[in-house]
Amino acid sequence: MTSMQTMDLPLRKVGSGKVREIFEIDDSSLLFVATDRISAYDVVMDELIPDKGRVLTGMTEHWLALASDIPNHLISMSLADLPSAVQDYAEELAGRFMIVKRLNMLPVEFVVRGYLVGSGWAEYKRNGTIAGMPLPEGLREADKLPEPLFTPATKATTGHDENISEATAGEILGEKRMATARDYSFQLYKMAAEYAEQRGIILADTKFEFGVDADGETVVLADEVLTPDSSRFWPADEWKPGSNPPSFDKQFLRDWLSGLDWNKEPPPPTLPQDVIDGTRRRYIEAYEAITGKFFDTYMQERRS
Ligand SMILES: Nc1ncnc2c1ncn2[C@@H]1O[C@H](COP(=O)(O)OP(=O)(O)OP(=O)(O)O)[C@@H](O)[C@H]1O
Ligand SMILES: [Mg+2]
Repeated sequence: MTSMQTMDLPLRKVGSGKVREIFEIDDSSLLFVATDRISAYDVVMDELIPDKGRVLTGMTEHWLALASDIPNHLISMSLADLPSAVQDYAEELAGRFMIVKRLNMLPVEFVVRGYLVGSGWAEYKRNGTIAGMPLPEGLREADKLPEPLFTPATKATTGHDENISEATAGEILGEKRMATARDYSFQLYKMAAEYAEQRGIILADTKFEFGVDADGETVVLADEVLTPDSSRFWPADEWKPGSNPPSFDKQFLRDWLSGLDWNKEPPPPTLPQDVIDGTRRRYIEAYEAITGKFFDTYMQERRS
């Protein structure tokens, strides 16, 4: 089976997000599984994009290896380390699971923006600011910012994120934790943006999540890292300030959805096979363009 809508395993499920299913291994570790679910406008589609969860997991692995000086939650991706209770599911888990450190997640999303788009552009148009910080006048949509900006957000209960100021993030988390995670976020963004640029790809913005270890002190990078679901990647040759460039992967689905008379509330429309296939192809292209590695090679490694 290469796709899964919900995933049940003979382990206690401790979380289920829009894309991931999280199971308990023991007090200190979790089985973190990326399904092939896809969401757009915060609505999860009924159909799956085969291998999408593997693409996201493989990209995260790629970036964690490049940022090995930042503490992260990855313990193992090898089949041999799966708990014996789930060894029968090794084939479908291969490439889409990580055994991770169980963390207390910080309730703030660490967003870094290098370009003016999305909710950042919306705020700038309204107030001339981003996350409350004033910006030069006359910037256009998708313009490159003078320098990358940290624009934290909280997960609002409505499902849509709410932008907050750095000062508010410091009040929520404590100044020291906030500053550590913010500095890691800048470091990751700058590293990844430079790396992507050499491959003809712009990293417009991205979101990180951090947790703290059982000691309550160590700030640890968690969740997915620099994937098409947590980031905007643009082909550099299609970037033109003044309009929102097509992003690599989900844009194809969003474009198709925006041509429909759909109010962006559940239930979602039924995705035709060519939209599923086209979306899958773009996720795999994004993996290969960014990592410089064939997706098949990734899967051979993960199955061995
Ligand atoms: N090491 C970790 N320990 C505990 N929780 C983690 C860890 N890494 C990530 N998480 C959490 O696991 C979940 C990942 O699931 P997923 O990406 O599907 O969620 P989401 O749709 O983005 O958000 P939500 O959880 O609000 O539905 C997130 O809630 C994330 O905060
Ligand atoms: Mg998530």
